[in-house]
This record gives sequence, C-alpha cells and structure tokens, in this order.
Amino acid sequence: MPSDVTEASEGVDEAENVRYEETEEDDNVSPTDLSEMLKEGTKESHDRAENTQFVKDFLKGRIKKELFKLATVALYYTYSALEEEMDCNKDHPAFAPLYFPLELHRKEALAKDMEYFYGENWKEKIQCSEATRCYVDRIHYIGQYEPELLVAHAYTRYMGDLSGGQILKKVAQRALKLPSTGEGIQFYVFDNISNAQQFKQFYRARINALDLDKKAKERIVEEANKAFEFNMQVFDELDKIGALLTEEAQDGGLPVHDGKGDLRKCPYYATKLGSFFFYYKYINLHLWGNTANSAFCPSLQARGTLAAPITLAWPC
Ligand code: HEM
Repeated sequence: MPSDVTEASEGVDEAENVRYEETEEDDNVSPTDLSEMLKEGTKESHDRAENTQFVKDFLKGRIKKELFKLATVALYYTYSALEEEMDCNKDHPAFAPLYFPLELHRKEALAKDMEYFYGENWKEKIQCSEATRCYVDRIHYIGQYEPELLVAHAYTRYMGDLSGGQILKKVAQRALKLPSTGEGIQFYVFDNISNAQQFKQFYRARINALDLDKKAKERIVEEANKAFEFNMQVFDELDKIGALLTEEAQDGGLPVHDGKGDLRKCPYYATKLGSFFFYYKYINLHLWGNTANSAFCPSLQARGTLAAPITLAWPC
C-alpha cells in the first residue's frame, strides 16, 4: 500500500482533506482514462439501475420499512464480502492504491444499522438472499482469482454510495421516519469523508493511475457492468418481496391469521419476526418454485447474456 494511502486511512485529518481539495475537477478527461471508460461504459447500466422498479419506488419515498431492512441486509452481506476481499488484496498492485478502509468501508456502519433494525442478536435473524448470494459469490471469486478486477466492484458500489446514495439517505430518513440522529442509515454516512465530490475526484485519479493496458481496462469495465447487473438482480428480488408486503407489515401489526396451514410460510408472520429466514423460504417456494438453494440463481436465469461466462468460471 502506498504511504500516503496509509496516512489517509490511519486518521483522516486536515492534511488529507487538503489533499482531496487539491485534486481539482478535471475537465480535460481523456477517453482512455479508466475512470472515464468506467463512467461511459456503465452509463447504460446506470440508467437501467436507476429505472428499476425498486429504485424508482424508493426515490419516490415508497418504501416499506421491512423492505428497507431487507435491502440493508443485502448490503451487509455484499459489503462484508467486498471488504473481506479488499483486505486480502490490500497489497496487490492492481488494488492497493484504492484501499481506503477508514474512509470507505461500510461493514461496520451496516452492522450498526442491523442492530438498530433487528436488535442485539441480529446475526441470528438475517439470511443472505439468493440474488445477494450470487453477487457475494462473484465478489469472492474475483478477490481470489482475478483481483485485478476488484476495482470494478469497488467503483460500482462506493462511487454510487457517494453519489446517488446520498439522495437515498434523505429519502429513507423522511419516508421511514427514522431518527434525525442517524440510526438506521449509518450505511449512507461517511464520517471520514468531509467532501464527497472531492473524494470522488481523488478516487478517480487513483483509478487512472493504475498501471493497466487497454485490454485490462476493458475487462474492468465489463466487470463493472456485471456488478451493476448483480445490483439490479438484488433490486428485482426486493421488488418481488415488496409486492408481498402489506402496510400492516410495515407498521408492525401482525395481521390476523386463521391459524390454519403452515404459519412459517406466511410472509406477515416472518416479517413480524424480523427474520428474513422464513420469508426467504416463502419467496423461494412461492415465487421461484425453488427448493434447492444451491442449484438456483435468479441472476443467471434472468440474464441470459451473463449466464454463460459466469457459469463457466463460478457455478452459482
Ligand atoms: C437512486 C438511484 C440513483 C441515483 C439518483 C443516482 C445518482 C447518481 C448521480 C447524480 C451520479 C453522478 C455523481 C457525480 O458525477 O459526481 C451518480 C454516479 C454514480 N452512480 Fe448512481 N445513482 C443511482 C443509482 C445507482 C446505482 C443503483 C448504482 C450501482 C449500484 C450507482 C452507481 C453509480 C456510480 C458507480 C457512479 C459514478 C459514475 C462516475 O462518475 O464514474 N448509482 N449516480
């Protein structure tokens, strides 16, 4: 890891802030800069992500609390995988200049959100969904076998969190009437970044300074598009779950159950428990007709174009 990066992550101080400020907005971007290739090369994916039903509803403040909690669970698993692989590759020359644990890493913030939403023993109450599992598996695969592509996953998530994520934070706080003191939305709060715009410029400069040839850059853009795709699969999955949630679930009132049948298959019951487990089983059985988790991956089924390369390298 370069020495200046160590300084940045060992204590964000005024010196580091000054350095971000010194990273000026650069209008003279070159189309061969990786940051520019990423921005241009994922534009279409970004548009599609912004236009998924889940995101559109979220932006309008139409998000039920239970669904927001499940979205936060998905983020927890995603960032746990991403940051684990980043930690493992922090000295890899293709990733080291982008290693900013103190400024960027979200796992701890997400753990706080989890505790707020699910209580002290939150770990026992959450489960990784199918779509999230596909994303997580891909991240681990990349971290272990193709770490030069890790930048694609870091770019897609962190640059997004520092951009549109800030809008989502305000929407969530308002729509879900979350405390103004920040409980439940710690994920969106970057305590160690005083100016997101400047940090993004600084991060872009770091991306551009990576020593990569044209082919490697193109592979990174391709991987970033896959990362967008994984995110969209998670959104679609959440959207399906959201369609089954009722306002009662949101407000915490358990709807009257007639007591017949298997209570564990009732989504209201599951939601009330605050557990994804029963809920997830319900979705698996009823939406996808799936009973064998390991043999099923909605990402691969839904996106024919993605299925081939990923299945070969990493059977989900
Ligand atoms: C709620 C919907 C979203 C909104 C309103 C939104 C908004 C924005 C805005 C305004 C920017 C430009 C920021 C800038 O130039 O400084 C941006 C950039 C970005 N967003 Fe989003 N976004 C959304 C969803 C997403 C999603 C779902 C992802 C990926 C998971 C994502 C990933 C990114 C990335 C990687 C960038 C950086 C582009 C670049 O400068 O290279 N965004 N977003």
